[in-house]
Amino acid sequence: MSKVQFATKNPRFPVAEDLYGLFFEDINRSGDSGLYPEMLRNRSFEDSILPEGCTAIDGTYGFVTPKGWKDQFGGGEGLDRWLDGIEPTPIPAWYSENADMELDYADTLNSKRQAALKVKLQPGGSIYNIGYRGVPAEDGKSCNFYMFAKAPETVKLTLTIEKKSGEILAQTEVEVKVGDTYERYDASLTVSGSDYDAIFRISAAEGGEAVFGFMSLMPAETYKGHGLRKDLMEMLEGTHSKFLRFPGGCIVEGFTKETMMRFPNIIGPVWERPSHQLLWHYRTTNGLGYHEYFQMCEDLKLEPMYVINCGLTCQARCPEYIEGEELDELLQEACDAIDYATAPADSKWGKVRAEAGHPEPFGMKYVEIGNENHSEPYVKRYKIFYDALKEKYPDIIFISNIHTEEHGCTTEVVDEHYYSTPEFFYLNQNMFESYDRNGPEIFVGEYAVTSGNDVGNLYSALTEAVYLLGIERNQDIVTLTSYAPLLQNVDYTGWYPDLIAFNNHQTFGIPLYYVIQMMAANRGKEVLEVQTEGPQVYSENVGIPGFVAYRNGVTLKNVECQGEKAQVSHQIVGETVEENGEWKLKTGFNMDLESFPGVENHKKDICYVTFGEEASEKNVFEADVKIDSPDIPVSVTLWNYHCPMLFCLDETEKRSKEWSPVYTEHYSWTIQNGVATPELAHWSQDKPIGESVEVPVKYGEYTHIKVETRHDGFDCYIDGEMVQSVQFESHPSMAAAVTQDEDEVIVKIVNLSDKPDAVEIAADCDLQSDYIAEVLTADSPKAENDFEAPRKVAPQTKMLTGASGNFVYEAPAFSMNVVKLKK
Ligand code: AHR
Repeated sequence: MSKVQFATKNPRFPVAEDLYGLFFEDINRSGDSGLYPEMLRNRSFEDSILPEGCTAIDGTYGFVTPKGWKDQFGGGEGLDRWLDGIEPTPIPAWYSENADMELDYADTLNSKRQAALKVKLQPGGSIYNIGYRGVPAEDGKSCNFYMFAKAPETVKLTLTIEKKSGEILAQTEVEVKVGDTYERYDASLTVSGSDYDAIFRISAAEGGEAVFGFMSLMPAETYKGHGLRKDLMEMLEGTHSKFLRFPGGCIVEGFTKETMMRFPNIIGPVWERPSHQLLWHYRTTNGLGYHEYFQMCEDLKLEPMYVINCGLTCQARCPEYIEGEELDELLQEACDAIDYATAPADSKWGKVRAEAGHPEPFGMKYVEIGNENHSEPYVKRYKIFYDALKEKYPDIIFISNIHTEEHGCTTEVVDEHYYSTPEFFYLNQNMFESYDRNGPEIFVGEYAVTSGNDVGNLYSALTEAVYLLGIERNQDIVTLTSYAPLLQNVDYTGWYPDLIAFNNHQTFGIPLYYVIQMMAANRGKEVLEVQTEGPQVYSENVGIPGFVAYRNGVTLKNVECQGEKAQVSHQIVGETVEENGEWKLKTGFNMDLESFPGVENHKKDICYVTFGEEASEKNVFEADVKIDSPDIPVSVTLWNYHCPMLFCLDETEKRSKEWSPVYTEHYSWTIQNGVATPELAHWSQDKPIGESVEVPVKYGEYTHIKVETRHDGFDCYIDGEMVQSVQFESHPSMAAAVTQDEDEVIVKIVNLSDKPDAVEIAADCDLQSDYIAEVLTADSPKAENDFEAPRKVAPQTKMLTGASGNFVYEAPAFSMNVVKLKK
């Protein structure tokens, strides 16, 4: 039984009007092929071109930047896992039959295009494009096609959308006229019959030659007729968001100067926008450009939040720092971009916007100076950009990446990012309570459960919901939030999880999508003081045991897990050498993680291994351990699990060995100089979670060490004697936030426990008996949505009676509830 008590008479502060927003970044191919529904992959024929200044690794498998950051390239196909089942071709996505294809890098459509496709077709010959894992053809729908082409002799081309079996679903003819200059040709194709794995073919019954400068095939029906994919825009509309942060994310910075996202490159006719390689492993043609983002904001009624590059390439990827005239140029581009959005139609940039179809200014409420930038190089550039931009655009709210006020700068809003475990989110629900109310406002611009045993399911969504409730209670200081990343083409995943998944014709939201929807649709006007009481629970831990030696000189024998002889299952760092039933632990550092944030604090030269494969909540690890000298630290590690986050800094490392220290977390019992300390360990941080105690380890000879887990801690034994019992911190199973408007009180409750909770709701006013509850739950906390069951975890609306100034609301096990009470 829990209790939520609130006071309607003395509201604390008004709700933050833009609290829930969206962050769009072109990741997981969510631009071209996603929100921007281009059906032809490699429509500009430039995908196989290595990013400028980069050097190929192993043929075309990967590339390395001049500063040393490496990425997979796959000849322009991207990550190796995206290639599964794709027939190799030198010009990604394009194939030929009785035709020769060749890229021409000289005679291109215009100075912004780096390649054109030259084809020689035999009579009946053709070229075809396989799209983004299929061209989606839907019965009765029309598609618009255009291309820029030229031909040495007039050539008659037949355009078809067809099944792989050859069955034609749509057809039209185009005649490319003889001539030396590229001309534009348009066509419309209406589909009869559906196939989402179709191809787009260009054939010549009589044969002939042509050069293609650029092409596009798009659905005729788009959201509000403005070119963006309808079902995805409707999903975004369903979030009830108030702002859109764009265009990134790390892509704002790029991995070299040439791959930075720059305003002049994302405006104008799409075929005149240069394409560039994104650090999420593919090339964008920038079809979803600056104007399109603003049109999207207007159509979805979102305040624009434009992220500018302030003179750094991505600091997590071997950065380059821009100085002098080049930096001035970037500052000028930021001004031009703001003018494009805000200046009247008769001004320089207003005219360009008007020519693009929007004479009225779009407006610009927020501008963020950089993304995830930090330390001295950022502070220096932030100051230059902030001072210049604020003077010119005093009404815009500027956002900083770090607490630049601590470095003497004026700071209005700070963008903080949190990617972590479910535990992090519920344990930190009160983190903003201690923030200085006289300091800058906070924008939680990126957050997500990205590690732990629960990612993208109901349980992780509920832990994120608890965190959001903490933000709702502190929305006087946290005024903006957005989850990251937003969209995932499931056939091109480069980062998981993402709020909305799609393929070339379907979409679904993960459970958190509905949490955000419920939060954002039920805002109220004022935040109320709320007191909660209820049972405490412990986090569930599941994983396998392991052991770390931080230096050479450690030997193990008679290792047992759950009372059974155990073998090494993963050599995460370093290696073990087995001889006569003894395992010598040999330290090493077998990963290239030099640029990983926090690497400087990490103990790199270690031996870190796990035992057994069976992940369990209850683990008993025991072994005879010989530590040659007292100053060699060792740890028994508990509940090791491999975090499934897909982002990897060096994508050229094939992930055959999925376990790495970066993606592994555990509790540990660490012993050094005869003193033991319990810790929570993740990558570069080991946080003590209990007192240090003296333990009778015998150095230079075998000591029997045993650690046994409980649901609320673990017990540690040396030579059969218990020497330490570690107790975890519990957390409340229920969290709540309450807001109100004139007629209604909105009580938001999350129940994180595995049992229904009878929540006593105690108000300082009368409430009408009839009320509505929106409830998000499922049969299991592990429940996820997918294409087959996109609303398995989605809110249900219940019409209930029995409310009063003091009544009991039954919150189901593992649920999020929005209880709407009439005053
Ligand atoms: O959301 C994915 C990435 O996470 C963003 O590009 C970056 O800002 C953060 O590191």
